[in-house]
Amino acid sequence: MLIRIRQLTKTYTMGTEKVHALRGVDLDIAKNEFVAIMGASGSGKSTLMNILGCLDQPTSGTYDLNDKSVHKMSAGSLSQVRNEEIGFVFQSFELLGRATALRNVELPLIYSRKRFWGSTKRAKEALHKVGLGERMTHKPSQLSGGQKQRVAIARALVNGPSILLADEPTGALDSKTSEDIMALFQQLHKDGQTVIIVTHEEDIAGYAKRIVRLKDGRILSDNPTDTDPIHQDFLKRSLESAQRAAGVPDSSNSAQRNRDQEEEEKTLGAEGKPLNGLLKIPAAVPIVAAGAMTALLAPNQPVPTPLSPDLCVSVLNSNQQLPTPPGGLA
Ligand SMILES: Nc1ncnc2c1ncn2[C@@H]1O[C@H](COP(=O)(O)OP(=O)(O)OP(=O)(O)O)[C@@H](O)[C@H]1O
Ligand SMILES: [Mg+2]
Repeated sequence: MLIRIRQLTKTYTMGTEKVHALRGVDLDIAKNEFVAIMGASGSGKSTLMNILGCLDQPTSGTYDLNDKSVHKMSAGSLSQVRNEEIGFVFQSFELLGRATALRNVELPLIYSRKRFWGSTKRAKEALHKVGLGERMTHKPSQLSGGQKQRVAIARALVNGPSILLADEPTGALDSKTSEDIMALFQQLHKDGQTVIIVTHEEDIAGYAKRIVRLKDGRILSDNPTDTDPIHQDFLKRSLESAQRAAGVPDSSNSAQRNRDQEEEEKTLGAEGKPLNGLLKIPAAVPIVAAGAMTALLAPNQPVPTPLSPDLCVSVLNSNQQLPTPPGGLA
């Protein structure tokens, strides 16, 4: 097991007051998992991430990372483990403003024992991996929010960490850029990277394969995304509201749907009307992320063709035009 946590607690002391941020957490995370940690503000997500990332030590309990007992380590050993095993991505990017993208990515190599002649080459490779090969000499002020976060991800990856940890990585990004960044995490996971993210957004959590929910410093639930009841309910509600906004009959009302279908067939013939390739999605429609959509489809199930309006609505951004689905429109 890559991560093995047992009865982990963290108590902060503020004068005479004690804050119990974590109250006995058990958690196993295997290599190459993609986990989202969710929970209300103050539930202990960042506290847990900081301990996972060896930025902080627990008050009690055990944390084994790659069979090393991290909870017993001194600050010096802890920082060495952090440097070798952990890549951190933060909401606020945390880049050095005066340094180029390349220099920012090189920094962990310069500080680590892994420093060697090839550090610039490795930093360049990491920037290529996140799609920023053309922006290496730009400084953070010359990059968009999404590009800054890509630099931060390249910096987190450059040491070849066992775990990529991201605390609200899309918190400062607009929804389209957030989807791009999540697609990048998804790709890294497909390439074998273990990824753990903290997020408040259900659609962002939908990119992960497993959702761990915290409440008041304890694990409330821990489920595969495909079967997590809260997430599945979110997907259902998002689809329904997208369908309503697009004028598609409510699928939960099958009697009404059948009547509507009969009416439509009377006027259009049994074949129905091909989906209009220029359907515009109203801006107010909540969009289910493409990653979340795949959770609705059984594994290995091909995307239905022709694309149904509700599916299109849910995977497209507002104002985008429908693409021609594989196999063409009906
Ligand atoms: N350094 C600290 N000193 C004292 N209390 C702290 C400290 N850091 C966190 N806390 C407290 O511990 C609890 C958990 O905080 P934490 O930052 O882990 O929450 P979170 O789930 O990440 O919240 P958010 O979603 O707002 O980021 C909170 O009650 C917080 O006030
Ligand atoms: Mg937090």
